[in-house]
Amino acid sequence: MVTNERIRNKELLEKVMIAEEAIKHIKDGMVIGTSGFSPSGYPKVVPLTLAEKIKKTGEKMKLTLYSGASLGPEVDGAWAEAGIIAKRLPYQTNSTLRNEINAGNVEYIDMHLSHSTQYLNYGVLPKVDVAIVEALAITEEGHIIPTTAIGNTPAFIKSADKVIVEINTSKPMKLEGMADIYTTENPPYRKPIPITHPGDRIGTPYIECGVGKIIAIVETDMKDKARPLAPTDEVSKMISDNILKFFRKEVKEGRLPKSLLPLQSGVGSVANAVLYGLCDSEFEGLTCYTEVVQDSMLELLRRGKADLVSTTSISASPEGFEKFLEEIDFFKDKIILRPQEISNNPEVARRLGIIAMNTALEVDIYGNVNSTHVTGSKMMNGIGGSGDFARNGYITIFTTASIAKNGDISSIVPMVSHVDHTEHDVMVIITEQGIADLRGLSPKERALAIINNCVHPDYRPMLLDYYNRSIENGAKHTPHILDEALSWHSRFQKTGTMKLNK
Ligand code: COA
Repeated sequence: MVTNERIRNKELLEKVMIAEEAIKHIKDGMVIGTSGFSPSGYPKVVPLTLAEKIKKTGEKMKLTLYSGASLGPEVDGAWAEAGIIAKRLPYQTNSTLRNEINAGNVEYIDMHLSHSTQYLNYGVLPKVDVAIVEALAITEEGHIIPTTAIGNTPAFIKSADKVIVEINTSKPMKLEGMADIYTTENPPYRKPIPITHPGDRIGTPYIECGVGKIIAIVETDMKDKARPLAPTDEVSKMISDNILKFFRKEVKEGRLPKSLLPLQSGVGSVANAVLYGLCDSEFEGLTCYTEVVQDSMLELLRRGKADLVSTTSISASPEGFEKFLEEIDFFKDKIILRPQEISNNPEVARRLGIIAMNTALEVDIYGNVNSTHVTGSKMMNGIGGSGDFARNGYITIFTTASIAKNGDISSIVPMVSHVDHTEHDVMVIITEQGIADLRGLSPKERALAIINNCVHPDYRPMLLDYYNRSIENGAKHTPHILDEALSWHSRFQKTGTMKLNK
Protein backbone atom coordinates (compact mmCIF):
# COMPACT_ATOMS: atom_id res chain seq x y z
CA MET A 1 0.00 0.00 0.00
CA VAL A 2 1.47 3.37 -1.06
CA THR A 3 1.85 5.63 1.98
CA ASN A 4 2.60 9.31 2.52
CA GLU A 5 6.19 8.25 3.16
CA ARG A 6 6.36 7.01 -0.44
CA ILE A 7 4.38 9.85 -2.07
CA ARG A 8 5.14 13.01 -0.11
CA ASN A 9 3.10 15.42 -2.23
CA LYS A 10 -0.67 15.30 -1.63
CA GLU A 11 -1.51 16.46 -5.16
CA LEU A 12 0.34 13.46 -6.56
CA LEU A 13 -1.80 10.97 -4.61
CA GLU A 14 -4.47 11.66 -7.24
CA LYS A 15 -2.16 10.35 -9.95
CA VAL A 16 -2.05 6.87 -8.43
CA MET A 17 -3.66 4.41 -10.85
CA ILE A 18 -3.47 0.86 -12.11
CA ALA A 19 -0.96 -0.08 -14.83
CA GLU A 20 -3.80 -0.63 -17.37
CA GLU A 21 -4.64 3.10 -17.09
CA ALA A 22 -1.02 4.28 -17.09
CA ILE A 23 -0.15 2.49 -20.37
CA LYS A 24 -2.76 4.55 -22.24
CA HIS A 25 -0.10 7.28 -22.39
CA ILE A 26 2.17 5.05 -24.50
CA LYS A 27 1.50 5.35 -28.22
CA ASP A 28 2.88 3.78 -31.39
CA GLY A 29 6.14 5.38 -32.59
CA MET A 30 7.15 6.83 -29.22
CA VAL A 31 10.59 6.89 -27.64
CA ILE A 32 10.47 5.35 -24.18
CA GLY A 33 13.27 5.81 -21.64
CA THR A 34 13.30 3.53 -18.63
CA SER A 35 15.21 3.38 -15.38
CA GLY A 36 17.27 0.25 -14.80
CA PHE A 37 20.77 -1.04 -15.19
CA SER A 38 21.96 -4.69 -15.33
CA PRO A 39 18.61 -6.03 -14.28
CA SER A 40 18.27 -3.71 -11.26
CA GLY A 41 15.92 -0.82 -10.57
CA TYR A 42 13.92 -1.18 -13.79
CA PRO A 43 10.11 -0.73 -14.10
CA LYS A 44 8.16 -4.00 -14.18
CA VAL A 45 4.40 -3.88 -13.91
CA VAL A 46 3.84 -1.07 -16.47
CA PRO A 47 5.98 -2.59 -19.27
CA LEU A 48 4.64 -6.07 -18.60
CA THR A 49 1.03 -4.84 -18.72
CA LEU A 50 1.74 -3.09 -22.03
CA ALA A 51 3.28 -6.24 -23.57
CA GLU A 52 0.34 -8.37 -22.41
CA LYS A 53 -2.17 -5.93 -23.88
CA ILE A 54 -0.42 -5.80 -27.27
CA LYS A 55 -0.14 -9.58 -27.40
CA LYS A 56 -3.86 -9.85 -26.64
CA THR A 57 -5.18 -7.12 -28.94
CA GLY A 58 -2.63 -7.31 -31.77
CA GLU A 59 -2.61 -3.50 -31.81
CA LYS A 60 0.21 -1.97 -33.92
CA MET A 61 2.93 -0.66 -31.62
CA LYS A 62 6.59 -0.03 -32.45
CA LEU A 63 8.68 1.74 -29.83
CA THR A 64 12.24 2.92 -29.46
CA LEU A 65 13.53 1.79 -26.08
CA TYR A 66 16.36 3.52 -24.20
CA SER A 67 17.61 2.35 -20.81
CA GLY A 68 20.69 2.58 -18.62
CA ALA A 69 21.85 -0.93 -19.51
CA SER A 70 20.23 -4.40 -19.52
CA LEU A 71 16.65 -4.71 -18.25
CA GLY A 72 14.76 -7.66 -16.79
CA PRO A 73 12.48 -10.01 -18.73
CA GLU A 74 9.42 -7.85 -17.92
CA VAL A 75 10.75 -5.27 -20.38
CA ASP A 76 13.40 -6.62 -22.77
CA GLY A 77 11.95 -10.15 -22.84
CA ALA A 78 8.24 -9.30 -22.85
CA TRP A 79 8.54 -6.42 -25.30
CA ALA A 80 10.71 -8.44 -27.69
CA GLU A 81 8.19 -11.28 -27.52
CA ALA A 82 5.31 -8.88 -28.21
CA GLY A 83 7.29 -7.48 -31.18
CA ILE A 84 7.05 -3.89 -29.98
CA ILE A 85 10.73 -2.90 -29.96
CA ALA A 86 11.74 -1.19 -33.20
CA LYS A 87 15.05 0.12 -31.88
CA ARG A 88 16.98 -0.51 -28.67
CA LEU A 89 19.98 1.09 -26.98
CA PRO A 90 22.51 1.07 -25.29
CA TYR A 91 22.93 -2.51 -23.87
CA GLN A 92 20.98 -5.74 -23.38
CA THR A 93 21.48 -9.29 -22.14
CA ASN A 94 18.04 -10.87 -22.70
CA SER A 95 18.06 -14.02 -24.86
CA THR A 96 14.70 -13.31 -26.58
CA LEU A 97 15.77 -9.78 -27.44
CA ARG A 98 19.21 -11.00 -28.54
CA ASN A 99 17.54 -13.45 -30.95
CA GLU A 100 15.34 -10.68 -32.36
CA ILE A 101 18.40 -8.45 -32.85
CA ASN A 102 20.32 -11.23 -34.60
CA ALA A 103 17.28 -12.11 -36.73
CA GLY A 104 17.24 -8.50 -37.94
CA ASN A 105 13.87 -7.67 -36.34
CA VAL A 106 15.21 -5.11 -33.83
CA GLU A 107 17.69 -2.36 -34.67
CA TYR A 108 20.24 -2.30 -31.85
CA ILE A 109 22.68 0.51 -31.15
CA ASP A 110 25.49 -0.87 -29.02
CA MET A 111 27.05 2.15 -27.29
CA HIS A 112 29.63 3.10 -24.70
CA LEU A 113 27.38 3.52 -21.67
CA SER A 114 28.90 6.88 -20.75
CA HIS A 115 27.98 8.17 -24.21
CA SER A 116 24.27 7.47 -23.99
CA THR A 117 23.45 10.39 -21.66
CA GLN A 118 25.41 12.91 -23.65
CA TYR A 119 24.08 11.72 -27.02
CA LEU A 120 20.62 12.51 -25.65
CA ASN A 121 21.71 15.84 -24.15
CA TYR A 122 23.51 16.87 -27.35
CA GLY A 123 20.32 16.19 -29.34
CA VAL A 124 21.94 13.38 -31.39
CA LEU A 125 19.32 10.91 -30.19
CA PRO A 126 15.59 11.65 -30.51
CA LYS A 127 14.16 12.96 -27.25
CA VAL A 128 12.22 10.77 -24.84
CA ASP A 129 8.42 10.95 -25.08
CA VAL A 130 7.62 8.98 -21.94
CA ALA A 131 10.01 7.98 -19.15
CA ILE A 132 8.99 4.98 -17.03
CA VAL A 133 10.98 4.93 -13.81
CA GLU A 134 11.10 2.81 -10.70
CA ALA A 135 11.20 4.80 -7.46
CA LEU A 136 11.39 4.27 -3.75
CA ALA A 137 9.45 7.47 -3.19
CA ILE A 138 8.52 10.85 -4.65
CA THR A 139 9.46 13.97 -2.69
CA GLU A 140 7.18 16.92 -1.81
CA GLU A 141 8.65 18.74 -4.87
CA GLY A 142 7.93 15.81 -7.18
CA HIS A 143 11.53 14.60 -7.35
CA ILE A 144 12.34 10.89 -7.67
CA ILE A 145 14.11 8.91 -4.95
CA PRO A 146 15.66 6.07 -6.97
CA THR A 147 15.90 2.43 -5.87
CA THR A 148 18.94 0.28 -6.68
CA ALA A 149 20.16 1.70 -10.00
CA ILE A 150 20.53 5.21 -11.39
CA GLY A 151 21.69 4.59 -14.98
CA ASN A 152 20.40 7.22 -17.40
CA THR A 153 17.25 8.05 -15.42
CA PRO A 154 18.16 11.72 -14.72
CA ALA A 155 18.69 12.33 -18.46
CA PHE A 156 15.50 10.50 -19.47
CA ILE A 157 13.38 12.46 -16.99
CA LYS A 158 14.93 15.73 -18.14
CA SER A 159 14.25 14.86 -21.79
CA ALA A 160 10.74 13.41 -21.32
CA ASP A 161 7.45 15.24 -21.65
CA LYS A 162 5.74 12.73 -19.39
CA VAL A 163 6.93 10.51 -16.56
CA ILE A 164 5.25 7.35 -15.28
CA VAL A 165 6.54 6.36 -11.83
CA GLU A 166 6.47 2.82 -10.49
CA ILE A 167 6.70 2.96 -6.70
CA ASN A 168 8.29 -0.35 -5.72
CA THR A 169 7.36 -1.29 -2.16
CA SER A 170 9.53 -4.42 -2.23
CA LYS A 171 12.53 -2.10 -1.84
CA PRO A 172 12.93 -0.70 1.68
CA MET A 173 12.97 3.02 2.40
CA LYS A 174 16.32 2.46 4.09
CA LEU A 175 17.85 2.63 0.58
CA GLU A 176 17.08 6.35 0.57
CA GLY A 177 20.29 8.38 0.75
CA MET A 178 22.52 6.02 -1.22
CA ALA A 179 22.03 7.97 -4.46
CA ASP A 180 24.27 10.88 -5.33
CA ILE A 181 22.85 12.63 -8.38
CA TYR A 182 25.11 14.99 -10.29
CA THR A 183 24.62 15.76 -13.96
CA THR A 184 26.76 17.64 -16.46
CA GLU A 185 26.06 20.60 -18.72
CA ASN A 186 26.82 20.44 -22.42
CA PRO A 187 30.10 21.97 -23.62
CA PRO A 188 31.14 24.80 -23.52
CA TYR A 189 29.46 25.06 -20.10
CA ARG A 190 30.67 21.70 -18.71
CA LYS A 191 32.67 21.97 -15.50
CA PRO A 192 35.24 19.60 -14.01
CA ILE A 193 33.49 16.79 -12.11
CA PRO A 194 34.62 17.36 -8.50
CA ILE A 195 35.44 13.73 -7.65
CA THR A 196 38.97 13.07 -6.43
CA HIS A 197 38.14 9.99 -4.32
CA PRO A 198 35.57 7.24 -5.05
CA GLY A 199 33.73 8.22 -1.86
CA ASP A 200 33.16 11.88 -2.72
CA ARG A 201 29.50 12.90 -2.62
CA ILE A 202 28.84 15.76 -5.01
CA GLY A 203 25.10 15.78 -5.74
CA THR A 204 21.59 15.29 -4.37
CA PRO A 205 19.90 12.13 -3.04
CA TYR A 206 17.02 12.56 -5.53
CA ILE A 207 16.58 12.89 -9.30
CA GLU A 208 15.03 16.18 -10.36
CA CYS A 209 11.63 15.78 -11.95
CA GLY A 210 8.86 18.07 -10.65
CA VAL A 211 5.18 17.44 -9.95
CA GLY A 212 4.07 18.67 -13.39
CA LYS A 213 5.79 15.94 -15.44
CA ILE A 214 4.37 13.04 -13.45
CA ILE A 215 1.32 11.75 -15.27
CA ALA A 216 0.83 8.40 -13.53
CA ILE A 217 2.00 6.58 -10.41
CA VAL A 218 1.65 2.81 -10.25
CA GLU A 219 2.38 0.73 -7.20
CA THR A 220 4.09 -2.66 -7.36
CA ASP A 221 5.99 -5.05 -5.13
CA MET A 222 7.54 -7.08 -7.97
CA LYS A 223 11.19 -7.89 -7.35
CA ASP A 224 14.06 -7.41 -9.78
CA LYS A 225 14.71 -10.59 -11.76
CA ALA A 226 18.41 -10.71 -11.05
CA ARG A 227 20.47 -13.22 -12.98
CA PRO A 228 21.95 -16.08 -10.96
CA LEU A 229 25.76 -16.29 -11.02
CA ALA A 230 27.54 -19.52 -11.86
CA PRO A 231 29.66 -20.85 -8.98
CA THR A 232 33.39 -20.22 -9.33
CA ASP A 233 34.88 -22.96 -11.50
CA GLU A 234 38.49 -24.01 -11.75
CA VAL A 235 39.28 -21.87 -14.81
CA SER A 236 37.83 -18.71 -13.21
CA LYS A 237 39.80 -19.45 -10.05
CA MET A 238 43.03 -19.76 -12.08
CA ILE A 239 42.28 -16.45 -13.86
CA SER A 240 41.67 -14.85 -10.48
CA ASP A 241 44.94 -16.25 -9.11
CA ASN A 242 46.79 -14.82 -12.12
CA ILE A 243 45.27 -11.39 -11.50
CA LEU A 244 46.48 -11.51 -7.88
CA LYS A 245 49.91 -12.55 -9.10
CA PHE A 246 49.95 -9.56 -11.44
CA PHE A 247 48.87 -7.16 -8.66
CA ARG A 248 51.60 -8.49 -6.33
CA LYS A 249 54.22 -7.85 -9.01
CA GLU A 250 52.93 -4.32 -9.61
CA VAL A 251 53.05 -3.56 -5.87
CA LYS A 252 56.53 -5.04 -5.59
CA GLU A 253 57.77 -2.95 -8.52
CA GLY A 254 56.27 0.19 -6.96
CA ARG A 255 53.68 0.81 -9.68
CA LEU A 256 50.66 0.19 -7.41
CA PRO A 257 50.14 1.04 -3.74
CA LYS A 258 49.42 -1.83 -1.33
CA SER A 259 45.74 -0.90 -1.28
CA LEU A 260 45.86 -0.93 -5.13
CA LEU A 261 43.85 1.76 -6.96
CA PRO A 262 40.04 1.96 -7.36
CA LEU A 263 38.84 -1.27 -8.94
CA GLN A 264 36.36 -1.58 -11.78
CA SER A 265 35.09 -5.04 -12.51
CA GLY A 266 32.91 -6.15 -15.39
CA VAL A 267 29.83 -8.33 -15.48
CA GLY A 268 29.47 -12.09 -15.52
CA SER A 269 30.66 -15.11 -13.65
CA VAL A 270 34.37 -14.72 -14.41
CA ALA A 271 34.34 -11.11 -13.21
CA ASN A 272 32.55 -12.19 -10.03
CA ALA A 273 35.12 -14.93 -9.40
CA VAL A 274 38.00 -12.50 -9.88
CA LEU A 275 36.80 -10.32 -7.00
CA TYR A 276 36.17 -13.35 -4.78
CA GLY A 277 39.90 -14.00 -5.20
CA LEU A 278 40.62 -10.59 -3.67
CA CYS A 279 38.40 -11.43 -0.67
CA ASP A 280 40.86 -14.14 0.37
CA SER A 281 43.99 -12.16 -0.47
CA GLU A 282 46.29 -9.94 1.60
CA PHE A 283 45.03 -6.77 -0.09
CA GLU A 284 43.16 -4.35 2.18
CA GLY A 285 41.83 -0.81 2.20
CA LEU A 286 40.47 -1.31 -1.33
CA THR A 287 37.99 0.98 -3.06
CA CYS A 288 35.89 0.40 -6.17
CA TYR A 289 34.82 2.86 -8.86
CA THR A 290 32.66 0.76 -11.11
CA GLU A 291 29.27 0.45 -12.80
CA VAL A 292 27.91 -2.77 -11.32
CA VAL A 293 28.11 -4.29 -7.86
CA GLN A 294 27.84 -8.08 -7.95
CA ASP A 295 27.92 -10.46 -4.97
CA SER A 296 31.71 -10.56 -4.72
CA MET A 297 32.00 -6.78 -4.37
CA LEU A 298 29.48 -6.89 -1.50
CA GLU A 299 31.63 -9.61 0.04
CA LEU A 300 34.74 -7.40 -0.25
CA LEU A 301 32.88 -4.79 1.83
CA ARG A 302 31.48 -7.36 4.25
CA ARG A 303 34.93 -8.80 4.96
CA GLY A 304 36.39 -5.33 5.50
CA LYS A 305 38.73 -5.73 2.50
CA ALA A 306 37.13 -2.79 0.71
CA ASP A 307 36.04 0.43 2.40
CA LEU A 308 33.86 1.90 -0.26
CA VAL A 309 32.14 1.27 -3.59
CA SER A 310 30.97 3.84 -6.14
CA THR A 311 28.63 2.36 -8.77
CA THR A 312 25.52 3.03 -10.81
CA SER A 313 23.78 -0.25 -9.99
CA ILE A 314 23.51 -2.90 -7.31
CA SER A 315 22.93 -6.09 -9.23
CA ALA A 316 23.54 -9.07 -7.00
CA SER A 317 22.23 -12.61 -7.50
CA PRO A 318 18.72 -13.23 -6.06
CA GLU A 319 20.19 -14.64 -2.81
CA GLY A 320 22.94 -12.01 -2.74
CA PHE A 321 20.37 -9.24 -3.02
CA GLU A 322 18.18 -10.58 -0.19
CA LYS A 323 21.25 -10.76 2.02
CA PHE A 324 22.21 -7.21 1.03
CA LEU A 325 18.75 -5.95 2.05
CA GLU A 326 19.01 -7.72 5.42
CA GLU A 327 22.34 -5.97 6.02
CA ILE A 328 21.39 -2.62 4.53
CA ASP A 329 22.39 -0.68 7.68
CA PHE A 330 25.95 -1.97 7.26
CA PHE A 331 26.16 -1.20 3.53
CA LYS A 332 24.33 2.12 3.42
CA ASP A 333 27.28 4.46 3.93
CA LYS A 334 29.67 2.24 1.98
CA ILE A 335 27.93 2.32 -1.41
CA ILE A 336 27.30 5.42 -3.53
CA LEU A 337 24.92 5.20 -6.49
CA ARG A 338 25.72 7.63 -9.29
CA PRO A 339 24.27 8.36 -12.76
CA GLN A 340 26.14 6.33 -15.40
CA GLU A 341 27.59 9.45 -17.03
CA ILE A 342 29.48 9.89 -13.73
CA SER A 343 30.15 6.25 -12.73
CA ASN A 344 31.58 5.62 -16.21
CA ASN A 345 33.06 9.03 -16.81
CA PRO A 346 36.41 9.02 -18.65
CA GLU A 347 37.55 12.19 -16.83
CA VAL A 348 37.01 10.59 -13.41
CA ALA A 349 38.41 7.19 -14.42
CA ARG A 350 41.62 8.81 -15.64
CA ARG A 351 41.93 11.03 -12.56
CA LEU A 352 41.35 8.23 -10.05
CA GLY A 353 43.63 5.86 -11.95
CA ILE A 354 41.25 2.96 -11.92
CA ILE A 355 42.19 -0.66 -12.51
CA ALA A 356 39.77 -1.76 -15.23
CA MET A 357 39.05 -5.50 -15.38
CA ASN A 358 36.72 -6.68 -18.12
CA THR A 359 36.01 -9.88 -20.00
CA ALA A 360 36.77 -10.55 -23.66
CA LEU A 361 35.04 -13.02 -25.97
CA GLU A 362 38.22 -13.21 -28.03
CA VAL A 363 41.60 -11.52 -28.28
CA ASP A 364 44.02 -11.49 -31.19
CA ILE A 365 47.75 -11.96 -31.19
CA TYR A 366 48.34 -8.19 -31.30
CA GLY A 367 46.01 -7.44 -28.37
CA ASN A 368 42.82 -6.30 -30.08
CA VAL A 369 39.76 -7.39 -28.10
CA ASN A 370 36.30 -8.47 -29.20
CA SER A 371 33.77 -8.35 -26.33
CA THR A 372 30.55 -8.37 -28.28
CA HIS A 373 30.30 -10.22 -31.60
CA VAL A 374 30.41 -13.99 -32.01
CA THR A 375 32.17 -14.76 -35.32
CA GLY A 376 32.02 -11.13 -36.30
CA SER A 377 28.28 -10.77 -36.88
CA LYS A 378 26.22 -12.17 -34.03
CA MET A 379 25.61 -9.81 -31.11
CA MET A 380 26.16 -11.26 -27.66
CA ASN A 381 25.35 -8.44 -25.19
CA GLY A 382 27.12 -5.23 -26.08
CA ILE A 383 30.20 -3.24 -25.15
CA GLY A 384 28.56 -1.90 -21.98
CA GLY A 385 30.92 0.19 -19.90
CA SER A 386 34.01 -1.81 -20.76
CA GLY A 387 35.27 0.78 -23.26
CA ASP A 388 34.59 3.70 -20.91
CA PHE A 389 36.94 2.15 -18.38
CA ALA A 390 39.40 0.38 -20.68
CA ARG A 391 40.40 3.49 -22.61
CA ASN A 392 40.84 5.57 -19.46
CA GLY A 393 42.09 3.22 -16.76
CA TYR A 394 45.52 3.30 -15.12
CA ILE A 395 45.75 -0.41 -15.86
CA THR A 396 43.40 -2.09 -18.31
CA ILE A 397 43.12 -5.85 -17.97
CA PHE A 398 41.08 -8.17 -20.17
CA THR A 399 40.40 -11.67 -18.94
CA THR A 400 39.09 -14.69 -20.81
CA ALA A 401 39.26 -18.46 -20.59
CA SER A 402 41.76 -19.53 -23.25
CA ILE A 403 39.20 -21.82 -24.91
CA ALA A 404 35.40 -21.88 -25.29
CA LYS A 405 32.82 -24.48 -26.37
CA ASN A 406 34.72 -27.46 -24.94
CA GLY A 407 37.90 -26.48 -26.70
CA ASP A 408 36.46 -26.08 -30.19
CA ILE A 409 37.08 -22.34 -30.01
CA SER A 410 40.38 -20.71 -29.12
CA SER A 411 39.71 -17.37 -27.45
CA ILE A 412 43.03 -16.20 -28.87
CA VAL A 413 42.95 -15.98 -32.64
CA PRO A 414 45.13 -14.59 -35.44
CA MET A 415 42.75 -11.65 -35.97
CA VAL A 416 39.60 -10.81 -34.01
CA SER A 417 36.42 -10.98 -36.05
CA HIS A 418 35.21 -7.67 -34.55
CA VAL A 419 37.09 -5.00 -32.59
CA ASP A 420 35.70 -3.34 -29.47
CA HIS A 421 38.96 -2.46 -27.74
CA THR A 422 41.91 -1.72 -29.95
CA GLU A 423 45.47 -2.78 -29.20
CA HIS A 424 46.05 0.81 -27.98
CA ASP A 425 43.61 0.40 -25.09
CA VAL A 426 44.52 -3.10 -23.98
CA MET A 427 47.38 -3.33 -21.49
CA VAL A 428 47.22 -6.79 -19.94
CA ILE A 429 45.65 -10.07 -21.10
CA ILE A 430 45.02 -12.73 -18.49
CA THR A 431 43.78 -16.28 -19.09
CA GLU A 432 43.96 -19.37 -16.89
CA GLN A 433 47.23 -20.14 -18.73
CA GLY A 434 49.02 -16.98 -17.67
CA ILE A 435 49.60 -13.23 -17.98
CA ALA A 436 50.67 -11.17 -20.99
CA ASP A 437 51.70 -7.69 -19.92
CA LEU A 438 51.61 -5.76 -23.19
CA ARG A 439 52.61 -2.35 -21.85
CA GLY A 440 55.55 -0.89 -23.70
CA LEU A 441 55.71 -3.74 -26.21
CA SER A 442 55.77 -3.46 -30.01
CA PRO A 443 53.24 -5.50 -32.04
CA LYS A 444 55.65 -8.42 -32.62
CA GLU A 445 56.67 -8.43 -28.94
CA ARG A 446 52.99 -8.40 -27.97
CA ALA A 447 52.25 -11.36 -30.24
CA LEU A 448 54.94 -13.49 -28.61
CA ALA A 449 53.88 -12.44 -25.08
CA ILE A 450 50.29 -13.44 -25.79
CA ILE A 451 51.07 -16.68 -27.64
CA ASN A 452 53.63 -17.87 -25.10
CA ASN A 453 51.68 -16.94 -21.95
CA CYS A 454 47.95 -16.98 -22.62
CA VAL A 455 47.08 -19.46 -25.38
CA HIS A 456 45.79 -22.97 -24.63
CA PRO A 457 48.43 -25.67 -25.41
CA ASP A 458 46.08 -27.20 -28.03
CA TYR A 459 46.28 -24.00 -30.08
CA ARG A 460 49.74 -22.62 -29.20
CA PRO A 461 51.67 -24.44 -32.01
CA MET A 462 49.02 -23.39 -34.55
CA LEU A 463 49.25 -19.74 -33.56
CA LEU A 464 53.04 -19.77 -33.48
CA ASP A 465 53.02 -21.32 -36.94
CA TYR A 466 50.63 -18.59 -38.19
CA TYR A 467 52.78 -15.88 -36.63
CA ASN A 468 56.07 -17.25 -38.01
CA ARG A 469 54.67 -17.61 -41.52
CA SER A 470 53.18 -14.07 -41.30
CA ILE A 471 56.63 -12.67 -40.67
CA GLU A 472 57.83 -14.27 -43.90
CA ASN A 473 54.77 -13.03 -45.75
CA GLY A 474 55.08 -9.25 -46.17
CA ALA A 475 55.23 -6.09 -44.11
CA LYS A 476 56.86 -6.84 -40.79
CA HIS A 477 55.36 -4.23 -38.44
CA THR A 478 52.12 -6.10 -37.67
CA PRO A 479 52.57 -9.28 -39.71
CA HIS A 480 49.46 -11.01 -41.07
CA ILE A 481 48.45 -13.39 -43.84
CA LEU A 482 45.16 -11.81 -44.85
CA ASP A 483 43.76 -14.91 -46.56
CA GLU A 484 44.27 -16.83 -43.34
CA ALA A 485 43.60 -14.18 -40.70
CA LEU A 486 39.92 -15.10 -40.25
CA SER A 487 40.26 -18.73 -41.36
CA TRP A 488 39.97 -20.00 -37.78
CA HIS A 489 36.47 -18.51 -37.56
CA SER A 490 35.35 -19.80 -40.92
CA ARG A 491 36.75 -23.26 -40.09
CA PHE A 492 34.68 -23.22 -36.89
CA GLN A 493 31.59 -22.29 -38.90
CA LYS A 494 32.20 -25.04 -41.45
CA THR A 495 33.46 -27.87 -39.25
CA GLY A 496 32.37 -26.97 -35.70
CA THR A 497 35.94 -26.53 -34.47
CA MET A 498 38.90 -24.19 -34.94
CA LYS A 499 41.19 -27.21 -34.75
CA LEU A 500 42.78 -28.56 -37.93
CA ASN A 501 42.19 -32.02 -39.43
CA LYS A 502 38.69 -32.77 -38.20
N1 COA B 1 33.55 -17.31 -29.47
C1 COA B 1 32.26 -17.70 -29.36
N2 COA B 1 31.61 -17.84 -28.18
C2 COA B 1 32.32 -17.61 -27.06
C3 COA B 1 33.67 -17.24 -27.09
C4 COA B 1 34.29 -17.06 -28.36
N3 COA B 1 35.55 -16.69 -28.48
N4 COA B 1 34.10 -17.07 -25.83
C5 COA B 1 33.06 -17.34 -25.02
N5 COA B 1 31.99 -17.67 -25.76
C6 COA B 1 30.66 -18.02 -25.29
C7 COA B 1 30.68 -19.02 -24.14
O1 COA B 1 30.79 -20.32 -24.61
C8 COA B 1 29.34 -18.73 -23.48
O2 COA B 1 28.33 -19.32 -24.29
P1 COA B 1 26.99 -19.96 -23.65
O3 COA B 1 26.27 -18.77 -23.07
O4 COA B 1 26.31 -20.56 -24.83
O5 COA B 1 27.48 -20.91 -22.62
C9 COA B 1 29.20 -17.22 -23.63
O6 COA B 1 30.08 -16.84 -24.70
C10 COA B 1 29.57 -16.42 -22.38
O7 COA B 1 30.86 -16.77 -21.99
P2 COA B 1 31.30 -16.96 -20.48
O8 COA B 1 32.63 -17.64 -20.49
O9 COA B 1 30.18 -17.59 -19.70
O10 COA B 1 31.62 -15.50 -20.02
P3 COA B 1 30.90 -14.37 -19.17
O11 COA B 1 29.59 -14.72 -18.58
O12 COA B 1 31.95 -13.90 -18.27
O13 COA B 1 30.62 -13.23 -20.32
C11 COA B 1 31.09 -11.65 -22.04
C12 COA B 1 31.60 -12.83 -21.19
C13 COA B 1 32.23 -11.13 -22.90
C14 COA B 1 29.94 -12.10 -22.94
C15 COA B 1 30.58 -10.54 -21.05
O14 COA B 1 31.59 -10.21 -20.13
C16 COA B 1 30.16 -9.28 -21.78
O15 COA B 1 29.05 -9.18 -22.28
N6 COA B 1 31.06 -8.28 -21.87
C17 COA B 1 30.81 -7.05 -22.57
C18 COA B 1 30.24 -6.00 -21.66
C19 COA B 1 31.19 -5.61 -20.59
O16 COA B 1 32.38 -5.93 -20.61
N7 COA B 1 30.73 -4.89 -19.62
C20 COA B 1 31.68 -4.51 -18.57
C21 COA B 1 31.39 -3.33 -17.85
S1 COA B 1 30.40 -3.83 -16.43
